[in-house]
Amino acid sequence: MAIRLGDKAPDFTQNSTEGEIAFHDWIGDSWAVLFSHPADFTPVCTTELGQVAHLKPEFDKRNVKVIGLSVDSIESHKGWASDIEETQGAALNFPLLADEDRKVSELYDMIHPNAEATATVRSVFIIDPNKTVRLMLTYPAATGRDFGELLRVIDSLQLTEYEKVATPANWKSGEDVVILPAISNEEADKLFPKGYKELKPYLRITPQPNK
Ligand code: BEZ
Repeated sequence: MAIRLGDKAPDFTQNSTEGEIAFHDWIGDSWAVLFSHPADFTPVCTTELGQVAHLKPEFDKRNVKVIGLSVDSIESHKGWASDIEETQGAALNFPLLADEDRKVSELYDMIHPNAEATATVRSVFIIDPNKTVRLMLTYPAATGRDFGELLRVIDSLQLTEYEKVATPANWKSGEDVVILPAISNEEADKLFPKGYKELKPYLRITPQPNK
């Protein structure tokens, strides 16, 4: 069955470059990003994994664990890792699942046969500490992802989890946010002591509360 936002992330056990991973146990009390790439020793994937390695401290700051996946073997992943370090200037610092039996790819519907029969597309799942799926993205093989966008989304997910706000288009952490429409002006007066601008009854803008 298709995975949808709000669903429990399917659990699995699979081999990785850092040994066998029992997914839910591995996530523990963190958030997680599970992402697939089509194949080892390919140009776009090489740049993507280098980017994730460079951004690892940013994921760590947000209490997010990152894990990659393709249907290649452990030996292939390990052989490719030195190319990533050499060409991207960052060593692999997160696990890569070796999903040769497609167990995880099938569980998460990462193979889209009408796009590519034998390889995973570029899927992303952001999963919260309750193991709930909070975001899904799917990109085609020829288009590398913007992993800075994942950090931006994580900032929004983690903010809106605790504050009665939502984040507008192109929002970045530190910028103004919008008050949830379900919050009355009387409640908003109490919840947002920095004040808010009411452009419309449903569009009220306030400084980011936790900054
Ligand atoms: C790449 O990672 O460069 C790639 C992989 C599969 C198809 C096209 C590009």
